[in-house]
Amino acid sequence: MSDPGASDDPVVLSVAAYSDQAEQYEVTHAPKMAETAARFAASLPVPSSILDAGCGPGRDLARFIAHGHAAHGVDLNPRFVAMARRHGPTTLGDLRRVGELFPPASFDGVWAASSLVHLSESEAAAVLAQLAGLLRPGGRLYACVKSAGDTGWLDEPDGRRWYTVWEPDRFADAVAAAGLTVERVDAGVFVEVWASRPPGP
Ligand SMILES: C[S@@+](CC[C@H](N)C(=O)[O-])C[C@H]1O[C@@H](n2cnc3c(N)ncnc32)[C@H](O)[C@@H]1O
Repeated sequence: MSDPGASDDPVVLSVAAYSDQAEQYEVTHAPKMAETAARFAASLPVPSSILDAGCGPGRDLARFIAHGHAAHGVDLNPRFVAMARRHGPTTLGDLRRVGELFPPASFDGVWAASSLVHLSESEAAAVLAQLAGLLRPGGRLYACVKSAGDTGWLDEPDGRRWYTVWEPDRFADAVAAAGLTVERVDAGVFVEVWASRPPGP
């Protein structure tokens, strides 16, 4: 990761803000997303290859592996990468260049749980296109981003981060524009999109 002290990139600064309380983040977030991750895991034949894009400390990486899948994490925060590696293979890298990290059509599933939240809309759209290219035909994507509050800097108890807040339809449209078929949209404080890469070449 670039030296956050030398960066004015909101993504780099936001990702770096997870480092100081990384262990506490893991504890606080451990129970979250269990039902959704189980549903995603069950939507793919076992074993499938899953990319956990923005895996954090590896909570869902561990869940997917426990389900029998071959899961691989990627994250830009080095502390989270070290923690995620306790559960499964994890690459240190920027999702904004995720298409350069893995060969095309490498994965049956891509899981992006709250990991596009610090990107601008145009950055997220470009990442979604790269993630679509990493899916095999017929592969599935789950992604969720914030859809309540204000876009901008947020002072949280464990750090200051930039968040982009999406209109639910606009996020679903961005997933569709990446070349994926949107199958389900659940809109609340977060908008969750389930999608798949169309079968065929
Ligand atoms: C809100 S946390 C979610 C972590 C995990 N997916 C979860 O559900 O608990 C956002 C995660 O995305 C990662 N992230 C954000 N932007 C990223 C980027 N451009 N490249 C790689 N990782 C990124 C952060 O480091 C952090 O681990």
